Amino acid sequence: MKILVIHGPNLNLLEKRDSNIYGMNSLGEINELIEKKAESLNLDVEIFQSNIEGEIVEKIQRSLGNLYGGIIINPAAFSHYSIAIRDALEMVDIPVIEVHLSNIYKREEFRRKSVIAPVCSGQISGFGGNSYILALEAISLLKVD
Ligand code: DQA
Repeated sequence: MKILVIHGPNLNLLEKRDSNIYGMNSLGEINELIEKKAESLNLDVEIFQSNIEGEIVEKIQRSLGNLYGGIIINPAAFSHYSIAIRDALEMVDIPVIEVHLSNIYKREEFRRKSVIAPVCSGQISGFGGNSYILALEAISLLKVD
């Protein structure tokens, strides 16, 4: 089973962002962790990053053809206001897990709301790069159920 992992805007420059909030790992290092974990769970992964809302919408739309068994998405800042990404995810009928490196509920008021969460199977927030690892575990459990 192939899992699509989507990283939203500014995650490509993770090493330049506040390490007290987002941890020390670059996105490349997180992607390596994701690939290793996926291999151990016998899952294939495709990893996609974009800073552009429309590109993320198109990637989600292309997933509608049963290409993937699940989607793990960190929509980054788009989490808080992108109705376009929410509407695209609403059409998806495979498990979708929203992840955040930081615990968005411990942060500024404007980050405490995700417009994406209501169209996802679940959300994992606050475990740094391990949020993605936990999401892979969750998807592999859903697969068994
Ligand atoms: C983030 C949290 C968002 O509020 C922020 O805009 C990000 C990253 C996280 O992973 O903690 O870019 O999604």
